[in-house]
Parts: sequence; C-alpha cells; structure tokens
Amino acid sequence: MSRVLITSAIPYINGIKHLGNLVGSQLPADLYARYNRARGNEVMFICATDEHGTPAELAAKKAGKPVAEYCAEMHAVQAEIAKGFRLSFDHFGRSSSQRNHRLTQHFAGKLADNGFIEEVSEKQVYSNADGRFLPDRYIEGTCPNCGYDKARGDQCENCTKQLDPTDLIDPRSAISGSTDLEVRETKHLYLKQSAMKDQLDAWIGTKADWPVLTTSIAKKWLHDGDGLQDRGITRDLDWGIPVKKGDQDWPGMEGKVFYVWFDAPIEYIAGTAEWADANGKSDSDWERWWRTDKGADDVRYVQFMGKDNVPFHTLGFPATIMGSGEPWKLVDYIKSFNYLNYDGGQFSTSQGRGVFMDQALSILPADYWRWWLLSHAPENSDAEFTWENFQASVNTDLANVLGNFVSRVTKFCASKIGPEVPTGGDYGDAEKALIADLAKRIRSYEAQMDAMEVRKAATELRAIWAVGNEYLQAAAPWSVFKTDPVQAGAIIRLMLNLIRVYAVISAPFIPDAAAAMLAALKTEDDSWPDDVEGALDVLKPGHGFDVPDVLFAKISDEEREDWQKKFAGART
Ligand code: MF3
Ligand code: ZN
Repeated sequence: MSRVLITSAIPYINGIKHLGNLVGSQLPADLYARYNRARGNEVMFICATDEHGTPAELAAKKAGKPVAEYCAEMHAVQAEIAKGFRLSFDHFGRSSSQRNHRLTQHFAGKLADNGFIEEVSEKQVYSNADGRFLPDRYIEGTCPNCGYDKARGDQCENCTKQLDPTDLIDPRSAISGSTDLEVRETKHLYLKQSAMKDQLDAWIGTKADWPVLTTSIAKKWLHDGDGLQDRGITRDLDWGIPVKKGDQDWPGMEGKVFYVWFDAPIEYIAGTAEWADANGKSDSDWERWWRTDKGADDVRYVQFMGKDNVPFHTLGFPATIMGSGEPWKLVDYIKSFNYLNYDGGQFSTSQGRGVFMDQALSILPADYWRWWLLSHAPENSDAEFTWENFQASVNTDLANVLGNFVSRVTKFCASKIGPEVPTGGDYGDAEKALIADLAKRIRSYEAQMDAMEVRKAATELRAIWAVGNEYLQAAAPWSVFKTDPVQAGAIIRLMLNLIRVYAVISAPFIPDAAAAMLAALKTEDDSWPDDVEGALDVLKPGHGFDVPDVLFAKISDEEREDWQKKFAGART
C-alpha cells in the first residue's frame, strides 16, 4: 500500500464553476483519488475555495453582501454542487480559514528570515474618500485609447488595451465614485523568486516524466525574456490574510493583506490541517502528509490543474516551499489540462456562456457528465463540448454498451432461470479466451490510470465493456438455453460476475451507476480484480440478485435540441 496526496486547483469563490473548470482539475483529481482508494492505497484528497483577491471583493459587492458572508454562502453552494458531482474530497476547505492565515503568515516570516523577501516602495493611487489605497482595477476613468468612459486602471474592456491607472482620463474610485484621488508612496513585499531560479530550474530538470504541457510552461517562464521575475506578494485590500511575519506585526505593512496567489496554494496544506481539525485528529495526522521530517517521505504528491495555473504551481508555490528552508513536501507530479471549449466558442464565466455545474446536474445525473467530460478530457489539445457529441457518447457508451449489457444479462436470467446466480455447466474455450482478454485489458486500464492518461483509460474501459457485449452476442445464451439450459446458466454466471467486475473498475468514472450495479447484485464486495479469473468467480451459484432499473436513459433528439436552445444564450 502506498500513500497518495492529491490536490485539485482550488476554485475561485466568485460564482458557480462551468464544466470546463470541472474537467480541468476537480474531476480528474477525483477520478485518480477514487482509483487509488480502490487499489488499496491510502489517499488524502484536498480541495477548497479560493476566497481572496479583488474578484471575491467585487462579487460580494455585486451581490450586495459583506464579503465574509458572501464567501461563507458561496462556499456552502460550491460544496453542495461538488457533492452532487460525487467529488470525493477528504476535505473541502476554505483559503480564508484560520489555519491558512497562520500558515501563510508563517511562510512569509520564514521567507523573510531567509532573505527571500524584499520591501519595495511604490507609487500607488490613494482614495481620500475611501480611506484606502486602490488596486488598479478599482480605479475607473476614460480610456485614452478609445474614449470608453468605464475603462479600468488595469485594462480597457472596450478596446482591451492594457493600462496603468495614471493613463486614465478623469480617474475615479470604483468603490465610491470619488475623484479625490492622489498618488502616494507605499511599501510592498516582493518574493525574490529570481534568487531561487537555479534551484527551481534544477528541480524542474529532474521532472522528465511530467507532461510536456506542464514542463514547457515552467521552462518558458524560467527562460523566456527576462526570466523569472520577483513577485509582489502583498496588496491593499480589506479582505485577505493580514501581512504578518509569523505572529509578529510587520512594520510598514499595516492594513495590507497577502496577494491571493501567495496564500491560495498554501491552502493545500492548511486544508489538510482543517481536515484534521474537522475529524478530531491531531497535528501529526496531517503533518505526516506534508512534512518529510514527520513521515511524508513516502507520500506521492500529485496536483491537478488547468494550464493557466501551471506557472504558480511549478514556480511560485515551490519557491515558497524551498525558500522556507523547512522540510515541506514538494509536488511529485503535476497533471495539467488544456481548455474545454463550448459549442464553437469558449466557456465564459463573465459572459455566462456554456453549461455551469448546477445547470448540468439539473438536467442529468452526475455520471452522464462525468463520463463525457473524462472520456473527452482536454489532455493533448483543447477539446470541445457539443450537444451532439454528448448525446452520441451517452447513448452509445453508457446506454447501448454498458447499460444494455447489465439489463440483458439480469433480465434474461431472472425470467428464464431465476433471480439467483445459476449453477452447473463448464467454461469452454470461448469463456477462457474472454477471461484472458479481460485480464490483459484490465492490466492495460490500470497502466493508463496509474499514468493519469484519462482519455486512454476511458477508451480502455469502453473496450472492456464492449468485449463483454461481443462475447454475450456470440455466446447467445438465449439460443443455448433452448437445447442446453445448464450451459446457458454457466454463461450467465460468468456474465453476472462480469457485471460486478465492471462495477468495481468503472466506479472511478461513474460511481453512482457502479453502486447501483453492486446493489442489484446484492454484494458489497468491491475488491479490485487483481486476479481477474478469481474476480469472475466471486458471486457463487445460488447468490440472489435483482434486475436493476435502467442504468442510463438515452438522450432523445428532442431533449438534445431543447438543451441546445436553452443553453444557447448567456446565463442570466
Ligand atoms: N483559483 C484559481 C483558479 O481557479 C486556482 C488556484 S489554485 C491554488 O484558477 F493552488 F493556487 F490555490
Ligand atoms: Zn479603450
């Protein structure tokens, strides 16, 4: 048994995520977590909401709520939807937790002690009316380029030109509308990533087994242009983790908070500590996952994320860990994803374009989505969701191949032989060949799952389902039954056992259907088919079973067209 620590990129708190977000981190992480548990490994699977930064403040403002209240509510909403998708986190934490406050301040203190923090004076816009410094995007004014009168201090939304706040004509505070603004000197903390460039470079250099998507992005940031830049890790916001050096005040940093991208990845660790707190465990119970001096040496740590998150996980977070000089666990493998597009364009949260997680569950159960998304994961290139493809995939793979197999076998047996596993008869060459083929394919499925080749694993799983179907078609127990009912029973005994094996190996992709299959077979034996022949002999003659309800309903053309229309416009 080995130990696997799994983290999914933590979704921003502002709003419900779309299917593109889901397939880029949380869902494949869940697949891997479930698979590892099924193989008997000890798993710690952590996710959380990413609650700081201007997007959180702005979303709360738009909702007309205090930001702490907004975040608490949205955390509960996201947690509920995650449950709906059967995401099996050991803990779904919050980056605003006290654990994360303390750990983030701790890391900043260590980085400062080790000379990796620089205090830099900057000129920044201060609003007298609001009594605070304004982040760039909190300043509005007229764009010098196109004349748009609601351009923001970081960018004009109308002509997309990148701006500095001082470029704006007639600047005003986006908070109060006040024009009583002035430029003041203020200090910020910078993390001297450049001083760690060689160390990071050497570390990335040892990761020859990582996906090219991951290492190419890291190397680009290390070597292109001016190379790795130092990074500001403080901001002038009310909401966030107050800047402190460990538990000490940090002179000159009063009223400032850490930058969201500094504290967010630390939440992976803090979230594990939250897990311990929530489950009555002690510090050593979470430290054995994270501290190499406290047992984490034999942990394999895997992260899942979309490609836009790669720089922060290959460089930023490792710089924090390395610079601390403490024995924290560094990531062992980063699985990154390209983007999923929606019907000829992009999924867009700001434009409400595409299918969002809550909407998806309101039309169909989680397994339908899990199967399509994972079997089309954007691994080697961007992928595209279309309703036609979704319909075809569900109807073919889930309804025709898997669902139909389960229903034919159980119905035939229940009506012709009886609702118990049949006895007698022998396995001949065809059965032996099927068992050998299945064994080979299941080993290859395991290899793809171990390698986190999500699409290839789905392809192999689909082939495993198809092999059973083809055998059943050829063996034709319904014909054999007419002349040799005992032999027909032997075929069916093998097929009932195969349904159990299908349930076990398919569970990481489609956990609800898998549970329904095991329930119909009246068994709780979900042991992995390490020995495939033995696994096909678990349900003994006389063992009772039920005919399950339809596992997967087909999607009709009418439904598809309906949804196509319903989701054509923006979400309101
Ligand atoms: N909230 C970020 C996003 O959705 C991901 C943060 S991952 C973390 O893109 F590790 F930095 F927390
Ligand atoms: Zn403009």
